Amino acid sequence: MSEENKEPVSVEQAQDVADQSVVNPWEVTGIVDYGKLIERFGSTPIDDALIARFEKVTGKPAHIWIRRGLFFSHRDLNEVLDKVEQGKPFYLYTGRGPSSDALHFGHLVPFVFTKYLQDAFNVPLVIQMTDDEKFLWKNITLEDCARYTRENAKDIIAIGFDINKTFIFSNLEYVGTMYPNILRIQKCVTGNQVSGIFGFGGSDNIGKHSFPAIQAAPSFSNSFPHIFGDRVDIPCLIPCAIDQDPYFRMTRDVAPRLGYLKPALVHSKFFPALQGYQTKMSASSTDSAVFLTDTREQIKTKINQAFSGGRDTAELQRQFGANLEVDVPYRYLTFFLEDDEKLKDIGDKYASGKMLTGEVKKILIDLLVDMVQRHQEARAAVTEDIVTAFLTPRKLAF
Ligand code: TRP
Repeated sequence: MSEENKEPVSVEQAQDVADQSVVNPWEVTGIVDYGKLIERFGSTPIDDALIARFEKVTGKPAHIWIRRGLFFSHRDLNEVLDKVEQGKPFYLYTGRGPSSDALHFGHLVPFVFTKYLQDAFNVPLVIQMTDDEKFLWKNITLEDCARYTRENAKDIIAIGFDINKTFIFSNLEYVGTMYPNILRIQKCVTGNQVSGIFGFGGSDNIGKHSFPAIQAAPSFSNSFPHIFGDRVDIPCLIPCAIDQDPYFRMTRDVAPRLGYLKPALVHSKFFPALQGYQTKMSASSTDSAVFLTDTREQIKTKINQAFSGGRDTAELQRQFGANLEVDVPYRYLTFFLEDDEKLKDIGDKYASGKMLTGEVKKILIDLLVDMVQRHQEARAAVTEDIVTAFLTPRKLAF
């Protein structure tokens, strides 16, 4: 049992402070109420009807991250499913800001989900590495940003993307090809508008003000002439964490003025930090997350210290059971344990006191150690030549 843990926060307490949360591409603080966030951003919740339609169109059960609510919000996903039913093409676009060598489980979420979508729909995928963004926002040299792009690309490739359907690009190298679209977007958005959307002020460098156009450009198919030629009629679906939505609200706003299609989106929640489900994992705080480079011992220590909804002693746990709502190890199991029945069994037993915190943590530790090991093996097989091949503009199977 975890005597050192703080008192679990009740759901009611959490909701009291939820309104004060901050969610933007650079900052996530406070307790995030995802229902309120949907209202604030004006997106649409993923409901049972949409999940059923998704399963009907793909002919497969929806990914556990849709069924269990990690991907919880969308824009125009129905329109994408319409296209699929009509036999019309679309493509996937996602990205990563490479700011360090070490990735944690939260970083993998959009990519693992994107790989699932790529397999389910058999469509081309473009992945933007925003080394330029990290240079503008952080105290990192351009050379380091470029190196992080290649190192992070290895982790992404290790997830298993098909090289014949996937183009990864470094903005530092590729942005010239997208420049016509970047200019068209820039001309549509005033300084007041970007300041309003992103909160930039007069003392932010001018690179920041123009960067949103660079993240917007890959939403339009003619930004990739080697894949789509000059076609502008191929819609794009963007899987991303909800904090990236402001970029794409801007993109959707300018698209019709340029005669382009609005990108569709599917949004994830944040991956909870080990310290509590209401906080976000952070690359800069190594204690807050399980990293893909962690050893078995490190994973064990971290999970054993994770915020628990179990009671303080085995006796109390047997008597009252755990609060699953706030229990981080159980929450992680809902993201990684695919077997629905097993998960339900653990949940029932843990909530009723038949299972102790230590047992639940042990199941999670074994699962994560196995996942990290498999990831490390797959990553070790990704050579520099393979990275270069993924990063080379070329025709994709399309
Ligand atoms: N800005 C994102 C980050 O810091 C990277 C990114 C670029 C991205 N394009 C994207 C993320 C499209 C999701 C979808 O991580």
